[in-house]
Amino acid sequence: MTLLAVVGGTGLAGRAVVAHAVAAGHQVRSLSRHLPPADKRVAGADYVQADLRTGAGVDAALKGVDALVEAMDARAGAALQALPVMSVATLAAADRAGVQRCVLLTIVRAGECRMGYYQAQAARALSYEQSGLATSVVYATQFHNLVGGIFAAGAKVGIIPAFKGVSFQTISTADLAAVLVAQALHGGQEKSSVRAGGPAVQGMHEMANAWKLATGSKALVTALPLPGSFGAFLRAGKNLVPDAAVGTETFSDWLAEK
Ligand SMILES: NC(=O)c1ccc[n+]([C@@H]2O[C@H](COP(=O)([O-])OP(=O)(O)OC[C@H]3O[C@@H](n4cnc5c(N)ncnc54)[C@H](OP(=O)(O)O)[C@@H]3O)[C@@H](O)[C@H]2O)c1
Repeated sequence: MTLLAVVGGTGLAGRAVVAHAVAAGHQVRSLSRHLPPADKRVAGADYVQADLRTGAGVDAALKGVDALVEAMDARAGAALQALPVMSVATLAAADRAGVQRCVLLTIVRAGECRMGYYQAQAARALSYEQSGLATSVVYATQFHNLVGGIFAAGAKVGIIPAFKGVSFQTISTADLAAVLVAQALHGGQEKSSVRAGGPAVQGMHEMANAWKLATGSKALVTALPLPGSFGAFLRAGKNLVPDAAVGTETFSDWLAEK
């Protein structure tokens, strides 16, 4: 039986990886700074406290681990600045523990967007690509939850934002988890990288209308410009990988499930 560590196993993507790996019969250890309450745990998984920024608890948490998936995140401030270093720390700790394969979850073409969050994601990917360990980098498109979250946040002030000229190829974290676990269990010493997108490219306006219908929101779907480097990145379709549409759950499926 493989012992898989999921660094950030309590997060949105990490939880799905833990659930997928447990269901596939693997032994799973989630690492995070905070332990989740009982009702947020995946039955059968172990949850341990470890901080990849300070190093506290990390070596003990990786003892005996065969493969690792890194699904940590930080959105802003000092934590975001530290994120690339945390990926380097993850690799160093994995090396000390003799972990056979390390898999990083990051975002498609992050290096092509000047936004700080995306630059941090690109730096993490580079550290995996350049490390001497057997690694896989999974470049994923935006999650259904991310776009749904933008709609939900806007709806609170009466507007469901549809950024002009923007499409997404959102993927479910469950579909992505299958890709991440498959990469983690990939034998051999060679490095690999894969792109993983959702099943369909959809205009944001169409997605906004689907979200409004599914949630019964009274807010108005509103076309808005999205300035800045992130807007330019999205309008250029750099967030899309139509030739790597590995997910099966559509945005509408995800809405129906919610
Ligand atoms: N959102 C998207 O649309 C999208 C699309 C493609 C790829 N991704 C990638 O997916 C990754 C995961 O995103 P997510 O939304 O699932 O993240 P998330 O829900 O914010 O979860 C982050 C996880 O990291 C843990 N963490 C943060 N700092 C830590 C530290 N110092 N030591 C140990 N654990 C730490 C958190 O637990 P604690 O806070 O308890 O430590 C939590 O388990 C991102 O890095 C991003 O590259 C996201």
